[in-house]
Amino acid sequence: MLHIFSDAPSVADYVSSALVEKIRSRPEVVLGLATGGTMEPIYARFVDQARRQRLDVSRLTSFNLDEYVGLSADHPKSYSAYMRHHLFGHLGFDSSRLHLPDGLARDLERHSREYSEKLRRCGGIDLQLLGVGGNGHIGFNEPGTAFDSRCHVVRLSERTRVDNSRFFDGNAIVPASAITMGMCEIMEAREILLVATGESKARIVAEWYRHEVTEAIPFTVLKRHARAKIILDEAAASLLPDSVRGSPAVASA
Ligand code: F6R
Repeated sequence: MLHIFSDAPSVADYVSSALVEKIRSRPEVVLGLATGGTMEPIYARFVDQARRQRLDVSRLTSFNLDEYVGLSADHPKSYSAYMRHHLFGHLGFDSSRLHLPDGLARDLERHSREYSEKLRRCGGIDLQLLGVGGNGHIGFNEPGTAFDSRCHVVRLSERTRVDNSRFFDGNAIVPASAITMGMCEIMEAREILLVATGESKARIVAEWYRHEVTEAIPFTVLKRHARAKIILDEAAASLLPDSVRGSPAVASA
C-alpha cells in the first residue's frame, strides 16, 4: 500500500495521471476531493495534463471533504474559493455536479446529514483523494473521532488551527470549527489515494506505520481499507525504517 517517490513533483505526476486515467475510463466517476498545500501541485499538474489531453470533465461529480464553519463560499479563504482557484475555475466542469459543505448553513447538523445523504444518493465515492494533518487527521476528523462517524461538525484542534494559520493572512483568525465528511464516508470510498509530502509529514507517517489501527490516529484506519494507497515523497518517508524505504515493491514506485 506504500508508494514512495523521489519528490513532490513526481508524486503530483503520479496522482494526476491516476485521476486522468480514472476519468477517462469512467467519465461519470464520483470523486472525493481534498484541499490544502499537498493538493496544490497535484491540481496544477492535473489541469495541465487534462487540458493537453482534452479530457472531458463535464460529467464527473465531486464531493469535497470539508469546509470551514462561518466562511461563505465567496470568502477568499474558504475551501470553495480554494477549489475554484486551483481546479474548478479551469477546464469544463459542470458546476451543478461539484459539491462542498456550506459553511454558512443555518442548521449545521442538519446540513451535515443532508450532505451525507446527497453523497449516498450519488452512489458514494469511487476515488477519494486525501491529505493528512500533522496530528493524523483525515478530512477534519481530528484524533479521537469515532470510526463510525458520518459527516459532522467538528471543533478544530489547536494543532490544526496553528498548522492552517499559514493559509490565513496576517493575524486573521483561523475558524474554530468545520464541517467534515466522517470516517464512514471516507472508508466507504471504493478507492483511496492518501498523499503526504515534505518533512513536516515524516513524523505522522512513521507513527502511522508503527501503530495498530487506533482512533487516536485517524490516518491508521486506512490500514483496514482494501484499496488504499499511501503515496509519499522521500521527505515524508524519511522516518520510516530503512527496510521499508528500501524494499523493491516500494522503491519501484
Ligand atoms: C483538506 C483536509 C485536510 C488536509 C490536511 C493536510 O481538505 O481535509 O485533512 O488534507 O490538513 O493539509 P496540507 O496539505 O495543507 O498539509
